[in-house]
Amino acid sequence: MKRIAVFTSGGDAPGMNAHIRAVERAADKRGLEVIGIIGGYSGMIAGHFEILDRARTANTIDRGGTILKTSRCPDFFEPDGRIMAAEQLRAHGIDGVVACGGDGTFHGAHALWTEHGVRIVGTPGTIDNDLAGTDFTIGYDTAINTAAQAIDKIRDTAESHGRLFFIEVMGRHAGFIALDVGIACGAEYVAVPETLTDIDELYQRIVSQGLDKRTVVIVGEGDELGGALGISQKLEERYGVPSKVSILGHVQRGGSPTVRDRVLASRLGAAAVDALLQGHTDVMIGQMGNDVSYVPLEQTWTERKPIPAYLSELSTLLV
Ligand code: F6P
Repeated sequence: MKRIAVFTSGGDAPGMNAHIRAVERAADKRGLEVIGIIGGYSGMIAGHFEILDRARTANTIDRGGTILKTSRCPDFFEPDGRIMAAEQLRAHGIDGVVACGGDGTFHGAHALWTEHGVRIVGTPGTIDNDLAGTDFTIGYDTAINTAAQAIDKIRDTAESHGRLFFIEVMGRHAGFIALDVGIACGAEYVAVPETLTDIDELYQRIVSQGLDKRTVVIVGEGDELGGALGISQKLEERYGVPSKVSILGHVQRGGSPTVRDRVLASRLGAAAVDALLQGHTDVMIGQMGNDVSYVPLEQTWTERKPIPAYLSELSTLLV
């Protein structure tokens, strides 16, 4: 193996730059050349490749976003798109690839291996923390800290006015962000996509707090009642209780990564390079406990990552 490539794909996540830097540095130490693919799978199909060196990755470890850009690429769902991508990799003499992203990225990577024999390992880069086979994903720690800071500020105004707030956090189909920040911010209720939200039970919880008191409810965006807006509307329709809605949105995806994310991203970057050199392919390089884990890519989406029971228990015990 002489030349490897790295790219970021799907939603960006804080720590991706630390990860790219680690791949570049570790590969350089192992005598490998590193190519950065610009713009995720779209860039792979179009052949937007650049050489990554120390100078290019210097002073990026603390930066949010991704210097390699990213995309969600519909063309990659088509066999023709994947044929073009594999041809580009071959034409550029790339012997192995590190794909940093979430389950969409890993579906693409798995197809590149099974259909075209491209040696590829995935690394978990998503704020959602929704990938089985790793305790945490790159970007999650930063996202929950960003969300918690914003929620603390909303609590101040909620407290001053004695208002009920529904605050929506990201996480697509997963409630990790919602539960962690709900506990960290002392929320009165947390609604997540993994469990059904009972509007009557929620009303009772709000009443028990006092309708004129500050109440903060954290809602995971994938909650089946339609996110924060949906729950707020249903509560008003059924019980005539007014509320404010705040959707935190993409603010959770940006910003300088936390130390935890920088260290995780760096460790997994170095481990991904070594994994390719050791002959691994079609696996995600994650971290379980203190150890680096190697999980078949397919398992990261066929197996649903469970929310730890203690999170759900604490979020109702401590209200
Ligand atoms: O997967 C990360 C994530 O931020 C999800 O939490 C969210 O549902 C989704 O991406 C939003 O994606 P986009 O910014 O592409 O609309």
